[in-house]
Amino acid sequence: MKHELSADLNRYLANVAVEYVKLHNLHWNVVGSSFKQVHEYLETLYDGFAGVMDTVAELLKIHDASPLASMKDYLAAATLQELDSAELPAVEALAVVRGDLLVLKAQAEEIRVGAEETGMYDVASAMEDQLTDYNKTLWFLRAMGK
Ligand SMILES: [Fe+2]
Repeated sequence: MKHELSADLNRYLANVAVEYVKLHNLHWNVVGSSFKQVHEYLETLYDGFAGVMDTVAELLKIHDASPLASMKDYLAAATLQELDSAELPAVEALAVVRGDLLVLKAQAEEIRVGAEETGMYDVASAMEDQLTDYNKTLWFLRAMGK
């Protein structure tokens, strides 16, 4: 695997790890009349991101590259910002997640292109699966946030 692609995958992995924790923060701290619905939906999202983290890290290992694997490394490499540990209204929580998922989707699109150009078909295929999931989740977040 080319260094540029492994660096992109590690930056993506770092953002996914930050989002995994951030979704727990929002799951616990969301408030409002739609609390139960949003609380439960956010759980399905962080469960999904646990799988994404593992898939991305294992793709790096499969291609003899080294995945970032500590919170310290993730925070150093991530572009997504963490949230304070504080309550947040549901509409704001959904908007935060939507903004983050647009960033992650753009990263996955860029990785997909780089993977195809260098013959990394398993990486490209994994990114396509994740892009499909991002599109569906973004629809849910748009609809729930209205
Ligand atoms: Fe929970």
